Amino acid sequence: MLEMRQVEGFLFSALSLSSSSLAVISLLLKKLTAAVLLADVACHAKHVPSRYIRPPSSRPNIADVDASGSAIIPLVDLRDLSGPGRAAVVKAIGSACRGHGFFQVANHGIPDDVITSMLRVAREFFRQPESERLKMYSDDPSRTTRLSTSFNTRTEEVASWRDFLRLHCFPLEDYVHEWPANPPAFREAVAEYAMNARRLALSLLGAISESLGLETDWLAAALGKQAQHMAVNYYPPCPEPELTYGLPGHKDPNAITLLLQDGVSGLQVLGQNGRWIAVDPVPGNLVLSNDRYKSVLHRAVVNNSTERISVPTFYCPSPEAVIKPAPALVDEEHPAAYREFTYGEYYDKFWDRGLQRESCLDMFRVANL
Ligand code: OGA
Ligand code: NI
Repeated sequence: MLEMRQVEGFLFSALSLSSSSLAVISLLLKKLTAAVLLADVACHAKHVPSRYIRPPSSRPNIADVDASGSAIIPLVDLRDLSGPGRAAVVKAIGSACRGHGFFQVANHGIPDDVITSMLRVAREFFRQPESERLKMYSDDPSRTTRLSTSFNTRTEEVASWRDFLRLHCFPLEDYVHEWPANPPAFREAVAEYAMNARRLALSLLGAISESLGLETDWLAAALGKQAQHMAVNYYPPCPEPELTYGLPGHKDPNAITLLLQDGVSGLQVLGQNGRWIAVDPVPGNLVLSNDRYKSVLHRAVVNNSTERISVPTFYCPSPEAVIKPAPALVDEEHPAAYREFTYGEYYDKFWDRGLQRESCLDMFRVANL
C-alpha cells in the first residue's frame, strides 16, 4: 500500500513534465505490479525475459556436456561405515574429496519415506497460490527463513531461473516456528528430513576428518556451535534453457553440502578434465582442509518441459567460528593457504558478491592478500 501511494505522489508531481518522463513512470508502475517470483513469470513466458539472459560468452552450452557415469563421479557405499569395513570407506571418501570434491553416496541411512515426504511438501509449497507463497518473501540474505528468487536480487546484474526457500534448521526448535505454516504437513516433513540430513552430515564429517588423519570429531568441533541451512530450489520449466541458468557455476560457502534432487536432472559439476558433467547425485563440498580437498564448481541448468526441485542441506560453521586449517595439516612445506577468518565474515561476502566462477574463498588466500 505504502509503495503505491508513494508512486502516485511521484506520478502527480511528474505530470507537469515532458511526455518522456511519463514513459518512465508507467514503466515504474508496471515494475511494482509485476510478479516478484519467477514461477509467476515463467508460467506465462514464451521467451526468456531479458533480465535472465546471459551474455553469449557465459551461456550453458547444454549440448556440450558429458553424461554422468560412475567411472567419472565416485559412488561411495556407506553401509560399512560402522563396522570392520570402515577404513576402506574412509579411504574411498578421502580419495573422492581429493580428486573431485564431490561424490554420490549409497546406503546413506535416510529412509525413503522421509525423502519422499520432503520432496512432496516442497512441491506443494511451490504450487500454492502466489499470495500464500509471498507471505514468506524477503530479499534480505540475513533473514533466517525466507522465500526469494534468483540468487541475490539486491546485487546481481543477470537473474537466475530459480525461486528458493531458505530455512535455518539447527537447532530445530529455534527455527521451526518461522517456517511456512502451509502446506500443513510442511514443518513436520522438513524437520524429519533435516534431522536425518544432520546425522548423515556429521557421519560424513567424521569419516572425512579421519581421511585427513585427524581425530574423528575434528571437523565437527571446528564448526563451533554448528549451523544447518536448507534451500528448497524450484526451477520452473524455461522456454529457452540455453539462454539462462538455474544457478550459474559456483562453489558452496559451507563445510559440506548434501544435495537431494527429485527425478529431473539439471545438476552439473566441473570435471577434472575441464568439461561439465551432468549428474543425479549427493555431493560433498569441503573448505576446511587447507586446500588438500577441493570444493567442486557446480551449476544447475533448466529445461523446457519439466519443473525441477532440489534440496541442498548446507552444513556449516556457526558465524563466530574461526576458520583455519587443522594444525596437523600445516607444516613448513604446507603453510596455511588462507588467512584466518570468521565464518560470519565469509558468509556476508559470499552473498554480497553474487555467484561468480572464482570461489569466494580465493579472497582469503594468502597469495592474494
Ligand atoms: C545450490 C546448488 C544445485 C541444484 O543450491 O547451491 O548448487 O542442482 N544447487 O539445484
Ligand atoms: Ni551449490
